[in-house]
Amino acid sequence: MSDIVWLDGQFLPRQDARISVDDRGFIFGDGIYEVTRCVDGRLFEGPRHLVRMRAGLAGLRIDQASLPDDAALLALHHELLARNDLTSGQATVYLQITRGSAPRAHQFPAASVPPTLYLSASRITPADALRTTGARAILLPDLRWARCDLKTVNLLGAVMAKQRAVESGAQEAVLHRDGVVTEGSITNVFGVLDGVVRTHPVGTRILRGVTRDVTLELLHAMGQPVEERALLLEELPQLSELFYTSTTQDAMPIVRLDDRTIGDGTPGPVARRLGEAFARALHDAKRLR
Ligand SMILES: Cc1ncc(COP(=O)(O)O)c(C=O)c1O
Repeated sequence: MSDIVWLDGQFLPRQDARISVDDRGFIFGDGIYEVTRCVDGRLFEGPRHLVRMRAGLAGLRIDQASLPDDAALLALHHELLARNDLTSGQATVYLQITRGSAPRAHQFPAASVPPTLYLSASRITPADALRTTGARAILLPDLRWARCDLKTVNLLGAVMAKQRAVESGAQEAVLHRDGVVTEGSITNVFGVLDGVVRTHPVGTRILRGVTRDVTLELLHAMGQPVEERALLLEELPQLSELFYTSTTQDAMPIVRLDDRTIGDGTPGPVARRLGEAFARALHDAKRLR
């Protein structure tokens, strides 16, 4: 099975791809990334990922002049999928851009240093089995920095939280800060309280997930009342449903949070309807590029 990646201007086998030990992604975690879902060789909500990617680059002040434009980046994704025999079925493309390679110094390198651009692709198996039973999650303090809106490769907050979840036999960690639920370690979190779906508003405390935006659209189309207002920790015992969203998981019901059963311990009606809506959205030509 071919495993071809793109690194700094060329396609090459993964085992031949090399980055410098001076790359600022390696030394400082100085870069951004995107993970895009692909269905039959096309990108689900591709332009939204590119918009977020460029906002992240602007947020980190990484110069975009030497990077491919959006059309060229989309073409690169398509070509990568084709070279990896991923033009049918489901896959993800991982994209990473760092501030490039230069002798170690915290301040930015000279403007002449180009960013490093890396893409790889993998087949994925949709998490349908887990969606049927529902996932387990643990509640943890949100110890991340104050710019969670930037999708940086500096992911230690997520790494430590996700590891705690896995060690607890759970699939995700739900994070809280100042008495409210922010998001998951690698997902956005939604809860249903008194028939209204609630999620943390966009801002610097969460990543604005592409799946979060799609979820809000699907909920509106379902006629489901939604409020972008953070869930309070003290409201958690009253939730009838809790679920998380991400590019690879769609909307995943949480049926147990620490030792607490959510609802009746099975995926609730909002999450189930969302799951069906996602299954249709993934094949909606208007969302595929
Ligand atoms: C912290 C965090 N929140 C939310 C998400 C979900 O984002 P998306 O729906 O774009 O995959 C991710 C995905 O990596 C994430 O890391």
